[in-house]
Amino acid sequence: MNRPLTRSANRSSTAASRALFERARSVTPGGVNSPVRAFRAVGGTPRFMVSGRGPYLTDADGNEYVDCVCSWGPMLLGHAHPEVVDAVVAAASRGTSFGTPSEPEVALAEEIVARTPVDSVRLVSSGTEATMSAVRLARGFTGRDLVVKFAGCYHGHVDALLADAGSGVTTFGLPGTSGVPAAATAATLVLPYNDRAAVAAAFSRYGDAIAAVITEAAAGNMGVVAPLAGFNGFLAEICARHGALFISDEVMTGFRVGRSGWWGLDGAAEGWTPDLLTFGKVMGGGFPAAAFGGRADVMAELAPEGPVYQAGTLSGNPVATTAGLTTLRLADDAVYARVDVAAATLCAMTSDALREAGVAHVAQAAGNLFSVFFVSDPEVNAVHDLAGARRQELHRHRAFFHAMLERGVYLPPSAFEAWFVSAAHDNAALDRVHEALPAAAAAAATATPDER
Ligand SMILES: Cc1ncc(COP(=O)(O)O)c(C=O)c1O
Repeated sequence: MNRPLTRSANRSSTAASRALFERARSVTPGGVNSPVRAFRAVGGTPRFMVSGRGPYLTDADGNEYVDCVCSWGPMLLGHAHPEVVDAVVAAASRGTSFGTPSEPEVALAEEIVARTPVDSVRLVSSGTEATMSAVRLARGFTGRDLVVKFAGCYHGHVDALLADAGSGVTTFGLPGTSGVPAAATAATLVLPYNDRAAVAAAFSRYGDAIAAVITEAAAGNMGVVAPLAGFNGFLAEICARHGALFISDEVMTGFRVGRSGWWGLDGAAEGWTPDLLTFGKVMGGGFPAAAFGGRADVMAELAPEGPVYQAGTLSGNPVATTAGLTTLRLADDAVYARVDVAAATLCAMTSDALREAGVAHVAQAAGNLFSVFFVSDPEVNAVHDLAGARRQELHRHRAFFHAMLERGVYLPPSAFEAWFVSAAHDNAALDRVHEALPAAAAAAATATPDER
């Protein structure tokens, strides 16, 4: 069942990526349009991809990789799924943007409302816009200013939410972000993730001033850290008791960990619902589309029905919504079952290889999201918050990442990011990863802190 390791075995050739990176750096800051892509945390030259098919990516030098990033989540069905491509081509041929309402955006909203607990939904173009708008709506609805977020949770590059954010902000060790005025984060309270006592203390002190608590439904931007049992339900309950709104950010988990996202795995069973949810990634099928939605009375505050303004030239774009709708319609139980099995297999084989090479680590999952923490403290067998995630030996991640890359496996170029797989990750793709693992685990075992 092995596919021949054709071009992926040709590790020496990165000339085309290096040349493109040179060009990019002369016209774009850092040569990239989103910081983690620059490989700063791992060193070396980012690979410039020219095509993707199923579980594979091919770079400008013709090297093929098993893709374990999947565009940071959206590619649930794998790259260039034929039905998605056909639907997109047909939609584009009818016109790429009208600036008017159109049928695909209605159908996509209906699909989201059918799968999740939201009564209505507003479409936007990025996860950042979704969380920014949800926070504004919560403030408008409650007439309060304070927002509670958790250290290590990333909600996009919204000024008010960049305090102690995960993802690139953690990858680059930025304490905050230059360019954000103190006033923008003055109304943000940052608490340790999974810490009920800290949340209770914040509410007992500021309860009548808190507009909302926003959390990743399951944290995936400090590495993968699942909420402790009952944590999200506790947040929903304490918000309700104090008249604050509970915003569950499902940009990463929504439509990826299951039909109804993370809420389908906890709130649906436990009997609570967030007041607002945010979505992105999978629901755009690889195009810029995202959404926020929730309770009818809260959503009614949004313009043009209510006084909270929010808008977008390309919101509900017909090509993006067609890609998202086609993806969601194809994402049936069989697709989620395949993604779950691929993720569990990959996580277990990676952990086995590291253990066999004597590399201390914690591999942990939240549904079909998972990541590996290179934590050497024998006392630590689980990571529950950002402080725990930061105790990693980053040099081991760097060595592991590069050894896998050289063997044709594309992993997240940061120790603080989730691994993503797709329904197209079949046995052949997983076998390729399996073959690469022993050498990469050995590289991690012998890595030293000053190696780049
Ligand atoms: C949980 C979460 N919320 C929001 C965002 C921001 O989404 P976007 O990058 O589309 O702006 C991300 C991006 O990774 C995310 O993971």
